[in-house]
Amino acid sequence: MAQNPFIPFNRPWIDETEIAAVSEVLASKWISTGVRVREFERAFAEYLGVKHAIAVSSCTAALHLSLVVTGVGTGDEVITTPYTFTATAEAIRYVGAKPVFVDIDAHTLNIDIANIEQAITPRTKAIMPVHIAGLPCNMDALRDICRNHNLILIDDAAHAIPTEYKGQYIGTLGDLSAFSFYANKNITTAEGGMITTNSAALAEPLRKMRLHGIDKDAWARQSQRSIWRYDIAMEGYKYNMTDIQAAMGLCQLMKLNKQQECRRNFAQIYQTELAKFAEIKTPAAPDNPSEHAWHLYIIQLHTGNRDEFVESLRDANIECSVHYIPLHLFQFYQEQYGYRVGDFPCAEAAYERVVSLPLHPGLTEMDVHLVIDTIRSLMKNP
Ligand SMILES: Cc1ncc(COP(=O)(O)O)c(C=O)c1O
Repeated sequence: MAQNPFIPFNRPWIDETEIAAVSEVLASKWISTGVRVREFERAFAEYLGVKHAIAVSSCTAALHLSLVVTGVGTGDEVITTPYTFTATAEAIRYVGAKPVFVDIDAHTLNIDIANIEQAITPRTKAIMPVHIAGLPCNMDALRDICRNHNLILIDDAAHAIPTEYKGQYIGTLGDLSAFSFYANKNITTAEGGMITTNSAALAEPLRKMRLHGIDKDAWARQSQRSIWRYDIAMEGYKYNMTDIQAAMGLCQLMKLNKQQECRRNFAQIYQTELAKFAEIKTPAAPDNPSEHAWHLYIIQLHTGNRDEFVESLRDANIECSVHYIPLHLFQFYQEQYGYRVGDFPCAEAAYERVVSLPLHPGLTEMDVHLVIDTIRSLMKNP
């Protein structure tokens, strides 16, 4: 039998546009933080409809700076989900705070809002929800909890560009939101991130903190007579974005609507076709006017062995992944906090059953149907 063409799990959408934009920056010889970063920040803020966007070197850096600027520190607790990439909890640890995990909702795979209040203690300073796969968390409920308990809301929006919650983009609703432009994200700059906020009081120090706490970066100093003179205004970090990355980011932002159309279309085909299989639970989709970013398409298997399923697809030249191994199952988090198997049953049950299928704008509808047909051939009750 002829082998299927290889269907990759993910591929960034990069073409001549990015190559030309990056080449232009290289030719200009101004390759670190400069005018392109400012343009990217403005365009990103304008797209979302948020007052401030601060470009940084990664989402991990964005989460870290968001905690620093809001004064979260040693001995504090930050409530988050165990069903995420390690970067979420890692950033909390950077400031000496403790990640306090709250189990997920089995249907949405997002943090279970109903379990949050019982995890709040006098040490709790912030809540850091993650919009898993691009599905918005219940922001109304999260904002209410934060308001009632005087907590900071920092959302990990690594998957959530462009996610809408009740008609407003994620990135406009938390005190601070952190986006990722890592290679596999819906917009990529290879590595990179963005912090968004409507607070000028938070944005202003963030612009300094991302580059050593310097009051004016080299681009801003160009027009002054003593180009070399600057002040260190506060404690800082080396978290700036380069113009090479920002040039790429600007091109990616221009393609965002088009790529979202592709993702939405492919996800809709998966939703319709896979819902016909009794063995598969298709992902939760939000009600209009909320909108899923479809960064990941995560199904859950009701029966059968997940690992064997992934391997069978791999044998058929279809690359899949698994999101996520819950953080409390990792040795490091168990040693640090005494977390054990059984602590977060919904996260564990999901982990045993989830498979992330290929979803990216490089696919064709034929590829998506090929994935579905291959899955059908693996089902006992097709
Ligand atoms: C949920 C989540 N948060 C944070 C990150 C970290 O992003 P970055 O690699 O840009 O630091 C990722 C990266 O995959 C992620 O999936």
